[in-house]
Amino acid sequence: MREEKLLELLGEMSLEEKIGQMVQLTGDFFEAGSVITGPAAKLGLSEENVRLAGSVLGIAGAKRLKRIQKAYMERHPHGIPLLFMADVINGFRTVFPVPLAMGATFSPKLAKEASAAAAREATAAGLHVTFSPMADLVRDARWGRVMESTGEDPYLNGRFAAALVEGYRENGLSACVKHFAGYGAPVAGREYNHAELSMQTLREFHFPAYEAAVRAGCELVMPAFNTLNGVPCTSDHWLLSDVLKGEMGFDGVVISDWNAVGELTGHRTAKDLRQAAEEAVLAGVDIDMMSMAYAVYLKDLVLSGRVPEERIDQAAFKVLRLKNSKGLFEHPWPDSEEKESAVFLCGPHRKLAVRMAEESAVLLKNDGLLPLSNPSKTVAFIGPYLDSPDTYGAWAVFQDRNDTVTVSQAVRQSGHFPNALFAKGCDMLENATVYGFGKREVFGFDEKRRETLFREAEEMAAKADAAVLFLGEHMLQSGEAASRGEIGIPDVQLELFSRVRAVNKNTAVVVFSGRPLDLRQVSAGAKALLAVFMPGTMGGTAIVHLLSGEAAPSGRLPMSFPYSVGQVPVFYNETSTGRPYEKNGTEPKFVSKYIDIPNEPLYPFGYGLSYTEFSYSPMRLKETAPNEFLAEATVTNTGAVGAKEVVQLYIRDEAASTTRPVRELKGFEKIWLEPGESRTVGFSITPDMLRICDRDGQFRWEPGAFTAYIGHDSRTENGAEFCLR
Ligand code: BGC
Repeated sequence: MREEKLLELLGEMSLEEKIGQMVQLTGDFFEAGSVITGPAAKLGLSEENVRLAGSVLGIAGAKRLKRIQKAYMERHPHGIPLLFMADVINGFRTVFPVPLAMGATFSPKLAKEASAAAAREATAAGLHVTFSPMADLVRDARWGRVMESTGEDPYLNGRFAAALVEGYRENGLSACVKHFAGYGAPVAGREYNHAELSMQTLREFHFPAYEAAVRAGCELVMPAFNTLNGVPCTSDHWLLSDVLKGEMGFDGVVISDWNAVGELTGHRTAKDLRQAAEEAVLAGVDIDMMSMAYAVYLKDLVLSGRVPEERIDQAAFKVLRLKNSKGLFEHPWPDSEEKESAVFLCGPHRKLAVRMAEESAVLLKNDGLLPLSNPSKTVAFIGPYLDSPDTYGAWAVFQDRNDTVTVSQAVRQSGHFPNALFAKGCDMLENATVYGFGKREVFGFDEKRRETLFREAEEMAAKADAAVLFLGEHMLQSGEAASRGEIGIPDVQLELFSRVRAVNKNTAVVVFSGRPLDLRQVSAGAKALLAVFMPGTMGGTAIVHLLSGEAAPSGRLPMSFPYSVGQVPVFYNETSTGRPYEKNGTEPKFVSKYIDIPNEPLYPFGYGLSYTEFSYSPMRLKETAPNEFLAEATVTNTGAVGAKEVVQLYIRDEAASTTRPVRELKGFEKIWLEPGESRTVGFSITPDMLRICDRDGQFRWEPGAFTAYIGHDSRTENGAEFCLR
């Protein structure tokens, strides 16, 4: 429909209808029989509120959504269709590795392919919008939702946020970037806690990835649950109107997080739901997800003059425009259900899921044990993740766990390990309860069973040439509302590790997690260590490819793995200090360091090994135009197998008007090199890339000295100086 027609439609709509476009409810409100007598009545909603609510969240399925849409449109005074939104985070039915693992691929291209595949499945199931990407920058591994982020670096996050948006849009799924802003920085890593970020940190580290998503064409933005510097993001006019709309030029729909408008009373910046509605709508929130504040109070707020009707018109029009851009007025539901069966878990999607899981695994340590490529050897496969299908991450709401290819299934199918032995080893957890969305798992303690499982594993490991342990935190120990104060591998699993290691020195550990863990003990004792995060539907297949050498690991850490939780938050791009700690420095005490643990994380940002070695030529730097430079290095695969390397460019600003990070990632490229092959990788450096947030909060570049580095990870010293004049 043309825009004039849409404006005409808006003109014909009643105030109630327009407010309806600003209300989002869950699917159960729309299913036959549930209206008004069920959840709605309790929440103070009238039948009309539900009849006019403009969008639905959390449900999918071509047949189901068609039924709901048809019934809804028949009852709506202007026959306006619903928008269906849901969390499609790391895939729909085909589950890809969790976003943190996507970040570890250092391949935005692959992430784009994955989000395009997710969109293909989600749109076949009738969805229009996904609440993704999550562009929150994360530095604190205690926070459970680091799993949903692509890590600690603004440049990396920006590249991934943009790629994910582009992939979704390629197949007709609109994207909603979240959680604007600073949700990834809750104080003490505790979920939903407030964030306190200086203007410089906010602008240099947190804003860029949200902005990259907006520039990539993201149609919606979700403000964060938390307060930021004392103001809830949901009612922050400066954030949602001045920064988002003004500075970033965002013209789409702002949708609250779940009940976030209602939670303004919890933050105690609104005395009641009515005030909450007023503040959120005036700050710029167009859709209220599940708080009922808009549905119940907006009409009266308009009639009493507290909220101008133009603001309602503006918000409703944005929602209508989004519906129109998706062609909903002409095609309100999917043509058939056949598309679902054609695309769900189809061959290309599974293949892509294998590739992504392979490329996201990070080889942290390898004392020559991996790959286990000799089929005549006996390998004992042990651990609670060996048979677990629950490796899809806490947000894969439309998956079926029966689709997961587990490690043991993949080992059996592969033919790589004809002499494989299998043992569970131990339960995932002891004396613990974990929760997910609508899920709860309880673990008890049974001394006898524990000992039997340990013994069985020990016996098997003792017989084998090598043992591979599949350990990690429970899938539901990361994700929303899963902050942890201790970030180790569960104790029972560490005990299993010690017992197996005692009988077989050739022990490798494959670690599953939704966050960086404290891996000190396994890192010290294991011969090889592979981090696979939550690898998704095809994780087992990918892991077997990696263990056998059919594929070589090429993941790099998107977030530092701490030495211990006492270092957290620990990140490579930390701010320079007046008293830096230097390894071979002469001052033993009055420098910025811990007296009991190292400053450095156990494994730093950008780090990851391969089954081959890469050498770097000294970096070459030349000025190609005034103030423009080309930094190059030649990378050679000096080992015996072909593999991918992630060539990384870091820049250090030597002196500036505001304090600078010790170095910052400014470019990367993932390349394939055959054994013996060399390739020159170049990055252009322009003043624009070197802009900083100055003392007045303005972004500009400053003349002076810089050092550029090209190398294997964030510790590289392969650098050269240049000057901006
Ligand atoms: C989460 C959002 C999510 C929303 C809708 C909230 O609990 O914070 O990330 O999109 O629920 O499911």
